[in-house]
Amino acid sequence: MNQFISVHDLPNINEMVKQALAYKANPFIDQHLGKGKRMGLLFLNPSMRTRLSTQIAAQQLGMEAIVFNVGQEGWALEFEEEAIMSGTTVEHVKDAAPILGKYFDVLGIRTFPSLKNKEDDYSELYIKQFIKYAGIPVVSLESATLHPLQSFTDIITISEQLAAKPLNKKPKIVLTWAPHVKPLPQCVANSFAQWVNAWGEADFVITHPEDYELDPQFTKGATITHNQSEALKDADFVYVKNWSTYADYGRIYCNDPEWMLTAESLALTNNAKVMHCLPVRRNVELSDEILDGPNSIVTQQASNRVWAAQTVLSTILKSR
Ligand code: CP
Repeated sequence: MNQFISVHDLPNINEMVKQALAYKANPFIDQHLGKGKRMGLLFLNPSMRTRLSTQIAAQQLGMEAIVFNVGQEGWALEFEEEAIMSGTTVEHVKDAAPILGKYFDVLGIRTFPSLKNKEDDYSELYIKQFIKYAGIPVVSLESATLHPLQSFTDIITISEQLAAKPLNKKPKIVLTWAPHVKPLPQCVANSFAQWVNAWGEADFVITHPEDYELDPQFTKGATITHNQSEALKDADFVYVKNWSTYADYGRIYCNDPEWMLTAESLALTNNAKVMHCLPVRRNVELSDEILDGPNSIVTQQASNRVWAAQTVLSTILKSR
């Protein structure tokens, strides 16, 4: 594996889940794999979980991890080819990335979308330019449209839950839109849909208000409904997430608080486990009663970020 930017970079989801759970049981089994290797973690945007879990994962493989908050501490980067850099950008990725490729053995990049221009964001220019010019494996720490480390974690967490308490049918997984105070990227929702569809082991339903349709390239295969109550019926897992509009790009239309998951709406489910990638706006996206209640698995989910990152990094190291 030479890059990890979507589910398509993974050889086999269930094999990778097995490896992740093996790391969870024994974090240091491959502690010499990354000896003498260095990973650069570049953040153009804030992060807690991705940053810390990937650092821990690298360290558990014996690899040094260096964080660089490009957005706050670095030169403003230019990504457009043939740009006339007379504006605010100071350094072209074409100059910066090859240097990073000499400093590091693996590069992780977090970027966010602008939410202003759909074509630009969905072209994934930033991460593609790093892949083009760094000359070393690149791992997405969340890009303009996808968050593969999060989604891999989500599948690990669902698999772990199912192993502990098997069902006699495919699990019903519901991705539900939730209200928020500002327009958020579609990355987590796109990515979760892409991974659940690729995994193929669930009855997958997506529910959101009208006008919040996601890009069909990620949702194709899922059942989509605007009726949240209908969607939640008999669900085994409910993934809660806000996203801004995709068609009329990056906007908030409906922000109906009725879409916030409550104990009343959870009662429609099959005692579903509730997931969220975090950070979460309490009592806007998800109620206290759910987050603090027995159905929430958000802490288990976030803790599994380490094993997802460790599995991706070890797969890259083993393939070099
Ligand atoms: N879920 C997630 O990516 O969290 P951070 O933004 O804190 O990394």
